[in-house]
Amino acid sequence: MERLTIKELLALEPAGQSVEARGWVRTFRSKRFIAMSDGSTIHTIQAVVDFEKFDESVLRSVTTGAAVEVKGTLVPSQGAGQNVEIQVDEVVIHGTSSPDEYPLQPKKHSLEFLREKAHLRMRTNTFGAVFRVRHALSYAIHHYFHERGFFNIHSPIITGSDAEGAGEMFRVTTLDLENVPKTEDGTVDVAQDFFGKETKLTVSGQLEAELAALGLGKVYTFGPTFRAENSNTSRHLAEFWMIEPEVAFADLKDNMDLVEDFLQYLVRFALDHCADDLAFLARREADEDKAKPAAERQAMPLIDRLKFVSQNGFERLTYTEAIDILRNSKPFKKKKFKFPVEWGKDLQSEHERYLVEKHFEKPVILTDYPASFKAFYMRLNDDAKTVAAMDVLFPGVGEITGGSQREERLDVLQRRCKEMNIPEEHVWWYLETRKFGTCKHAGFGLGFERLVMFVTGMTNIRDVIPFPRAPLNCEF
Ligand code: 4AD
Ligand code: MG
Repeated sequence: MERLTIKELLALEPAGQSVEARGWVRTFRSKRFIAMSDGSTIHTIQAVVDFEKFDESVLRSVTTGAAVEVKGTLVPSQGAGQNVEIQVDEVVIHGTSSPDEYPLQPKKHSLEFLREKAHLRMRTNTFGAVFRVRHALSYAIHHYFHERGFFNIHSPIITGSDAEGAGEMFRVTTLDLENVPKTEDGTVDVAQDFFGKETKLTVSGQLEAELAALGLGKVYTFGPTFRAENSNTSRHLAEFWMIEPEVAFADLKDNMDLVEDFLQYLVRFALDHCADDLAFLARREADEDKAKPAAERQAMPLIDRLKFVSQNGFERLTYTEAIDILRNSKPFKKKKFKFPVEWGKDLQSEHERYLVEKHFEKPVILTDYPASFKAFYMRLNDDAKTVAAMDVLFPGVGEITGGSQREERLDVLQRRCKEMNIPEEHVWWYLETRKFGTCKHAGFGLGFERLVMFVTGMTNIRDVIPFPRAPLNCEF
C-alpha cells in the first residue's frame, strides 16, 4: 500500500478504501476517537475504534504523545469539521508515552513553557504551523532567485575578516584554552592556531557575495550568520539565517525595486501556499490579542496585514526626511521618545516603529543614511556626508532588511577603510575587485527569522527558529 501522509489522506474521496496512517496521538476520546497528527498539516485525522474489537492492553497505550499506526478503511466522517475518518481494523503502537510524564497535555501551553521543551514543541499546532511556513518561505526564496537567473553562493562560515563591523563576533579556535600559547609580548600566538591566524564565525556573507557577483552577475547567499552581541531582545538571535542577494551593474534604485518585489513575492507565496497554517496562526493571534490591552493589539488581523503588504507599494524616503518627520511628530514634541532624534544619530526601534506603524502605516524603505554610522562598503553620495544605504522597516518587526549600493571606486573605498581603521591587508582581495573591472553593484541582507516573524505573526524571534541561540541559551 502506498504510504500517504495525513494531509494526503484528508484530501481523498472516502470510498471505503484501505488506508494506513502513522503519527502521534493528540487525544483519545470516549475510548473511541483517536485524533492523530503526523506533521504534514495543521489538521488531525480522526481514527475511530470499536473498543470491543480491540485488546484492552493495546488501547491503553493510545495516549497523548504516543506514536501509533492505524490500518482501516476511509469513510465519510460523521463528525463536523472533517470530510473523512478512518474506521480502524488494526492499531500498532510504535512508541508509548506516559500520560503522567508527557509535557504536552492536550491544552494550551505558554510559548515560554514550550521554549523550555523545544525538543518536543514541533508536535504542537503552533510550532507545526510556524515551521511549515518557515520551510515554504525558504523554498520560495530559492525559487524566486532561480527563476530570475541568480546563482546561490555558499559563502564561508569561518572567516578571517571582521571588516563588516556588523557586530561582535564569536572566536573560532582549536587552541587549548587551559594553556594558550603566547608570543613574547604576551599576546595570544595565533600563528599556532588552526588557520595560523585569528578566525571568527561570520556575521555576513556579503563581502564574498560581492566577489561572486562581480563574476557571476547575480548571486545570493542563504546561510547562518553569528553575532555575539549581548542583546537579549525579542528580535535578536546569536545565530540567525540571512539571505544576501548581490547584483552587478545595479544601483540603489534597482536594489529598492528588487527588495520590494522580493518581499512582496514571499508574502504572497505564503498566502497562496500556507493558507491552513496561516488561518490557524491568525486565529491564534486574535485569541492572544483579546487578553492584551488595546494599545498592544494588532491594528490589522494577520491575513489582512499580509495582503496589505503584498499589494501596496512601500514608502520610500531618505533618512534626512525621516528625521524631519520624527522631529515634527507628537511623541517627539511630547518627549515620549526615549532616544534623541538628531541628524547624524542612528534611528532606534521606537523611531522606526513610529514611522511604519503610526505615520505611514505601511512598510518603509529608508535611504541615504549618514556615512558616520554605516559600514565602509556603502557607496558615498555626492554630498560626501551620506551613503547609498537602504533599510526596509516592517510593522511589528522593525528592520527586516539592510543593504546598499556598494562603493565601487577604489580611491574612495581606500579612504573609507582608513577612516574606519580597517587595515588594507585584511581586505586586499575585496579591494582588488575595485582594481580589476570594477562596476557599480548593490545588494541587501534579509534576516530570515524577521521575515518568518512577520508572516506568522509570532512576536518573539525565538519562536520562529527551531533551536534558538541567545545569550546564556544553547540547550538542544
Ligand atoms: O543590517 P545587517 O547587519 O546587514 C548586513 O549584515 C549586510 N551585510 C547585509 C547586506 O547588505 N548584504 O543585517 C541584515 C539583516 C537585518 O536587517 C535584520 O533583519 C537581520 O539581518 N539581523 C538579525 N536577525 C536576527 N538576529 C540578529 N542579531 C540580527 N542582526 C541582523
Ligand atoms: Mg542593519
